[in-house]
Amino acid sequence: MRESSFSRTLMRENSISVSNLIYPMFVIEGTGIRQDIESMPDIQRLSIDELVKDASECHQLGIPAIAIFPCIEKQLKTDDASEAFNDDGLVQRAIKKLKKEIPGLGVISDVALDPFTLHGQDGLIDKKGNILNDETVSILTKQALSHAKAGADIVAPSDMMDGRVGRIRKSLEENKFINTKILAYSAKYASSFYGPFRDAVGSSELLGKSSKKTYQMDPANSDEALNEVKLDIQEGADMVMIKPGIAYLDIVFRVKQTFNKPTFVYQVSGEYAMIMAASSRGWINQDDVILESLISFRRAGADAIITYFALEVARLMNSKQ
Ligand code: PBG
Repeated sequence: MRESSFSRTLMRENSISVSNLIYPMFVIEGTGIRQDIESMPDIQRLSIDELVKDASECHQLGIPAIAIFPCIEKQLKTDDASEAFNDDGLVQRAIKKLKKEIPGLGVISDVALDPFTLHGQDGLIDKKGNILNDETVSILTKQALSHAKAGADIVAPSDMMDGRVGRIRKSLEENKFINTKILAYSAKYASSFYGPFRDAVGSSELLGKSSKKTYQMDPANSDEALNEVKLDIQEGADMVMIKPGIAYLDIVFRVKQTFNKPTFVYQVSGEYAMIMAASSRGWINQDDVILESLISFRRAGADAIITYFALEVARLMNSKQ
């Protein structure tokens, strides 16, 4: 069966297409700005006008949705992260503009406080640096509501606080956002693969040597991931996410098998950086490795994949048709 291309095609069990991809994008204040990110070649921080241009290309190429992450100016960062729920903040303005210009493109907003805190943690902290779970959940709920008001189709809590999905769902319902969907980063690991992302949103300097191990998951665990997913589904999550990707395919598989819910996976910045670095040296074939990594997510059971390669892959697939 493997001998010829036609028979390999006939027995192929899984497929990857543009419709499985979500493109994460970084937004920054200003106009006409496209700022390179050193550790993420070919990815840039974009001002809202430039963001709309690239998002339009995503839409034209068939990418169903984008996920936006802000790089917030230093003077707007505070201990209480109040800029996170400013209805006229950078994220909120970006969402409004995207929904006005490209209404058919799904917009996923990130619900977490790390771009807005002075210390780069995803939540509020006490004097000793411990995370204040419940106080954080109150701010996250305001943040999610503010994104929904701006027009976000999907709010995506990536903070890993306990009980936030339930609170966000309740607040969306009470405010009549009955169609706003929740993508819960349910099994998000305290991973070292997030380094380039933290450069991109400007939180790595602020974090310094402190870690997120008191709220993100231990990479040694997998039963705990099922428990986290179960809780988020009970609280009202529409979709669940596993993050990072390649090193956590077993978690993707178990979650999909156990719950049979829309299951997304995030191929994170460090995974992107590794593939880009090795291929820039000619040590691996970039396109082949990208496509192989994406099909492995689908084989494990992922419905959709958030990947920095989404735009490039969509261009590649469209040019082959
Ligand atoms: C934080 C957040 C992170 C990512 C998405 N949202 C980093 C972190 O938890 O420190 C990482 C994404 C990536 O590495 O591509 N709310």
